[in-house]
Amino acid sequence: MRVLITGGAGFIGSNFIHYTLKHRDADVTVLDAMTYAGNRASLSGVEDQINFVEGSVTDAELVDKLVKEMDVVVHFAAESHNDNSLLGPKPFIDTNISGTFNLLEAVRAHGARFHHVSTDEVYGDLALDDPAKFTEHTPYAPSSPYSASKAASDHLVRAWVRSFGIPATLSNCSNNYGPRQHVEKFIPRQITNILTGQTCKLYGDGLNVRDWIHVDDHNDAVWAIIDKGRIGETYLIGADGEVNNHDVLQLILELMGKDKDDYEHVTDRAGHDRRYAIDASKLESELGWKPKYTTFREGLAQTIDWYRDNEDWWKPMKDETEAKYAYQKRIDPK
Ligand code: NAD
Ligand code: TYD
Repeated sequence: MRVLITGGAGFIGSNFIHYTLKHRDADVTVLDAMTYAGNRASLSGVEDQINFVEGSVTDAELVDKLVKEMDVVVHFAAESHNDNSLLGPKPFIDTNISGTFNLLEAVRAHGARFHHVSTDEVYGDLALDDPAKFTEHTPYAPSSPYSASKAASDHLVRAWVRSFGIPATLSNCSNNYGPRQHVEKFIPRQITNILTGQTCKLYGDGLNVRDWIHVDDHNDAVWAIIDKGRIGETYLIGADGEVNNHDVLQLILELMGKDKDDYEHVTDRAGHDRRYAIDASKLESELGWKPKYTTFREGLAQTIDWYRDNEDWWKPMKDETEAKYAYQKRIDPK
């Protein structure tokens, strides 16, 4: 099976490659633009088992040439950080919308099986006391330039299935954690703040809830959908992992042997979504999928160990990332 993985040098894409080479018989090609979020070190140990192409999904000619040779395309490439989308939305429009369009046109021309990796953030947010969770029928209501661009890309995929009959599926997953996640994101930012002697940062009141899933569970679900999912369908991926940011942070501090109150509240994110929660019953009942990481504490402890053991991986990006946050604060000091 010839598989093209876009965004394979990023967090979820690189873990998908490690997972795929361990569990499947696949001939893997990676297309990655190597933005600030791409890291070749995330592919160390498997470099000689893949064909790595440095290039952008916004390059229609390159995308067409690669897709032509493939049986399956798994599309992870995206600008993925909400805070960056508030600072400069343009790359989100180019990569997430135009990039997806180029892939869909190539799939339409050449007929590969397409899987689109998306986020639960396309559904907006839920109130803390709402008994409801997101389902495949929840109306789209994105809040940020990031989630709006992902919503737009989802709509394109659905339209290409309906109008042109391309063989595609979609998945919308909740917040991932695990090894190789960029230090701009919440969990790795706090772990590496502690490891570098900096203070942990909690946005606003810290009561925002995210529904955490281990990245390997996400990727296992993506393969289940590629193997057994019905064409044209959307599957929500989640592992019943709702925890508020305050509790996640206190758990990290405890697991790292620090005082549980050793953090500071900082200015809230503009438009900050309050709560995400996934009802994954369609994925579980139709495809028989179940998460393997059912204890957040254990998964988090393993993730902390990974960052402790892989300083070479994250150290080069830490100062630059914190400088970007400091700049963001200067231009929006509210
Ligand atoms: P990431 O930012 O860690 O990685 C993105 C990768 O895409 C990087 O390697 C980057 O270099 C590459 N890329 C960016 N622009 C590109 C372009 N124009 N052409 C080719 N490659 C490009 O992101 P992630 O967290 O691994 O997310 C991967 C996908 O999963 C995204 O589509 C995201 O929306 C989705 N998702 C993420 C989460 C999460 O919690 N991180 C949850 C649900 C869904
Ligand atoms: P993030 O990892 O950026 O993911 P997303 O915006 O996709 O949910 O943030 C997760 C949560 O953590 C979100 O509610 C914002 C919050 N957060 C902090 O409290 N402090 C931080 O330093 C960061 C980066 C995020």
